[in-house]
Formats: sequence, C-alpha cells, structure tokens
Amino acid sequence: MKHDKIERSATLLLVLSFLVVTVGGLVEIIPLFWLNNTIERVKGVRPYTPLELAGRNIYIREGCYLCHSQMIRPFRDEVERYGHYSLAAESMYDHPFQWGSKRTGPDLARVGGKYSDQWHVQHLIDPRAVVPESVMPGYPFLAKTELKFDDIADHLKALRIVGVPYDDDMIRNAKADLIAQASGEDTEGLIKRYGKARWGSATEVKARDFGRDGPQKITEMDALVAYMQMLGTLVDFKTFDTTNVENLR
Ligand code: HEC
Repeated sequence: MKHDKIERSATLLLVLSFLVVTVGGLVEIIPLFWLNNTIERVKGVRPYTPLELAGRNIYIREGCYLCHSQMIRPFRDEVERYGHYSLAAESMYDHPFQWGSKRTGPDLARVGGKYSDQWHVQHLIDPRAVVPESVMPGYPFLAKTELKFDDIADHLKALRIVGVPYDDDMIRNAKADLIAQASGEDTEGLIKRYGKARWGSATEVKARDFGRDGPQKITEMDALVAYMQMLGTLVDFKTFDTTNVENLR
C-alpha cells in the first residue's frame, strides 16, 4: 500500500526516481576516479608526428570516417581479413577517435604498409584507376593543394591539454619535424623525438616523399598518405601478448 502512495503522487515518484538514478549513476562513475588509467598502455604506441597529425586532420575534414571504420573487432572474420583486433591503446591519442560506425569501404585500422605510396596517391586521385568497381569519390585536389602547417605547433599544444604526451621539444620543433618527414631529409631530430628507440614501436617513424610530388613540395596528399601508412603499424603483434607485462609501458 506504500507503493500505492508513491504511484499516485507525481512529485514523490519524480523525487524518488531521481534518487534511484543518482545512486545508480554514482556507483558506475565514482570507481573510475580511483583508476589511474582505464586504458592499458602498450609498448610502441606513440603520439602522431606533426605530418601524420596534419594528415589525420585532412582525413577528418574530408569525412573519410563516414565510409571507413578504424576498429577491428575481435571476431574471427574480421581478424582474418584485417589482422590483429584493435587495442584500446592504439587509439588512446586520438581526439576525437576515428572508430566510425559505417563500412562502405574496408576498415583502415591496419592499412599502413599494405600498399605503396604510389598506390595511395593514384587511389586518392582516382579510385577507379586502381579498383575499377570502387564507389569511393576521388580527391584529386589533395595533390594540388599545398599543406598549410603554420599552426601545427598549436595543434600539438591543444592535444597536450587533453593528455597527449607532446613535450616542449616536440612543440618547439613541430614545423621542422613536419618538413623533415615530408622530405625525408634531416630526420635526425624527428627520429629522436618519435622514433622506435624512444617508444619501442614495431616500425621506425617513416620519412619520405609520401605524395610522390618531389621532396620540396609539401601537399595535403603528402600528409594524408603519411597518416595512412602509419595506421596500425606501431604495435609489434609478432611479440604482443596481453598476458605479458613486458609489452606494457
Ligand atoms: C563514399 C564512401 C567513401 C568515402 C567518403 C571514402 N572512401 Fe575510401 N573506400 C571506399 C570503398 C567502397 C573502398 C573499397 C574500394 C576501393 O579500394 O576503392 C575504399 C577503399 C579505400 C582504401 C583501400 C583500403 C584497402 O584496404 O584496400 C583506402 C586506403 C581508402 N579508401 C582511403 C580513404 C580516404 C583517405 C578517404 C578520405 C579522403 C576515403 N577513403 C573516403 C569508400 C569511401
């Protein structure tokens, strides 16, 4: 009969429902504040280099995520097609993450190293030149548009605010590192800051003329292909094993 009282009074029902939801919410949320990190750190995962970050910004600007996911689910068919399922740590420096929810095209989480730079350039200029049945739109202007990167250090700074471990040295040298990676020249500083030795990545940071348009010319194509070619290449899955703490940083 007490329940009857609650159900007949809108105010009482509202207040009590609110209390129930509040307690339930707190029980779910509060423990998260006591965990240092909800993501296991994995050896090899490093922040994006300035050039890769510029490429990622173009990927977002062009809405590539509307047709491509970047998240391999732990299902047999996906793992056989794309490779090792995605680890949370692999997108821990993505703000915002690019997991996506639509696969008009294939998942791109491990597309790095699958094709040559030349293939990517051709494919982005005119997808049907390399995949005749493709429904992907062409992005020929990327090869003609010079990359604007005067503000690249600010992008690093903004990401540092949300927790990406860019240090002062990386921010100070952001422009120089971008030029070095896109040209493949004077890469010593770039490798010191983002290289394998520092992060334990499976692959060394790649520096070359990604857009195939001459090392002195830095186009949006250079940046986007640099980003494509590093996707999913940081963790060494030949040795990775979730039960081995050696893999965790
Ligand atoms: C309208 C949907 C659509 C959009 C938008 C789109 N793609 Fe695609 N993409 C596809 C389809 C379909 C394929 C498969 C056929 C092919 O290879 O062209 C594909 C294939 C690819 C592949 C080859 C993947 C593989 O493993 O074979 C890459 C790389 C790629 N897209 C990159 C991009 C990038 C970068 C952008 C944004 C600049 C983009 N796509 C935008 C539909 C799209």
